[in-house]
Amino acid sequence: MPKEKTPRELEDLPGIGPTSAEKLRAAGIDTIEKVAASFPANLSDTCGISQDAAKKAIEAAREATTINYETAKSILKRREDIGRISTGSKDLDELIGGGIETDAVTEVYGRFASGKTQLGFQLAVNVQLQRKEGGLGGAALFLDTEGTFRPERIVSIAKSAGIDPDTAVENIVVVRAQNTDQQVLTIERVDKLIQEKNIKLIIVDSLTSLFRAEFLGRGALNERQQKLNAHIHRLALLANKHNLAVFVTNQVMDNPGMLFGDPTTPIGGNVLAHAATTMLYLRKGKEDKRIVRLVDSPNMPEGECIIKITTDGIR
Ligand code: GTP
Ligand code: MG
Repeated sequence: MPKEKTPRELEDLPGIGPTSAEKLRAAGIDTIEKVAASFPANLSDTCGISQDAAKKAIEAAREATTINYETAKSILKRREDIGRISTGSKDLDELIGGGIETDAVTEVYGRFASGKTQLGFQLAVNVQLQRKEGGLGGAALFLDTEGTFRPERIVSIAKSAGIDPDTAVENIVVVRAQNTDQQVLTIERVDKLIQEKNIKLIIVDSLTSLFRAEFLGRGALNERQQKLNAHIHRLALLANKHNLAVFVTNQVMDNPGMLFGDPTTPIGGNVLAHAATTMLYLRKGKEDKRIVRLVDSPNMPEGECIIKITTDGIR
C-alpha cells in the first residue's frame, strides 16, 4: 500500500474538502489536534459531512497527532520566567500569589460598577513599572468593547504610581471593538504589534458583552460558545507565546436556578472556567470597598480580600 503523507492541514484529512475545512475553521476547529479531540456527531454537524466520514477524519487526525510531552523539570525552568503585575493592592497581590501572572489568563467577573474596568486601568499602568516595582517594564493593549476606556483615569493612576502620565498614555494601545468580528480579528492579528510595542499585558474589557448582544436566544448559544471558545483559546496561546499576561473582564448574570449562595454566574460559563487560569470574583462592599474572591487558581488556596477604588487607583 502506498504510504500516505502525514496530514498537516485540515484539507489533508480524508473526507475534508476546502468547504468543510472552511466551516471547521469558522467554528474554531482550526488544527488537526482539534479535529482529533472532536466527537463525530459534532464534527458532522459543523461541516456537513456524514457521521461515518467524520469518524474517519477524526481517526486520521488522531493518528497524525503527536503527544508533545515535556518534563516537569523543563516546565519548572519555564515557570522561572513567569512575570507578575501588581494590582496596586498588597492584599490582593498576596491573595493571588504576587500579582497577575504572565503566560496565563486571569478573569475577573462581577456585576456592574464592581470595579472590573478600574482594575484593568490599574494593571495597564502597573505593567509599565520596572520588575522590582511590581511591573514588567512593558506596554499594554486595551481592547475596549464597551466604550468605557478613560485616558483621564490613566493619567491620575499613573501620577500616583510615579509614572510620567504622558509616557503612561503613550504605552497603552487602545482598540475599540464594535462587534465580535472586530474583537476576534484584533486578537488574531496582534502578533506584530505585541513585538513592536513590547506589549506585556492584554486587557479585554469586556470579553463577553458583544457576544451576549450578538448571539441572542437559545439557538445561537452553541455558535456563541464556539466562537468565544476559539477567541479565549487564542488569547491563551498569545499569553504563552509572548510570555505576557491576559486580563479579561466578564459581567455576571443572575442564575435563577441557584438556590443557595450568591446567585450569579459568569457569562460564558464553562468555556471560560476551563480557559482562565485564575478567576477572581469582585463584589461591592460598603462605599468604595470591594470584596475580591479568588475562585480558582492552579496553585493558591481560595480566599478573599478587600480592596478600595480610589481616585489614585486600586489600593
Ligand atoms: P461594568 O463595566 O458596568 O460592568 O462595571 P465595572 O465592574 O467595570 O466597574 P468599574 O470598574 O467601572 O467601577 C466603577 C466604580 O469605580 C464606581 O463605583 C465608581 O464610583 C468608581 N470610580 C471610578 N472612577 C473613580 C475615581 O476617579 N475615584 C473613585 N474614588 N472611584 C472611582
Ligand atoms: Mg467596566
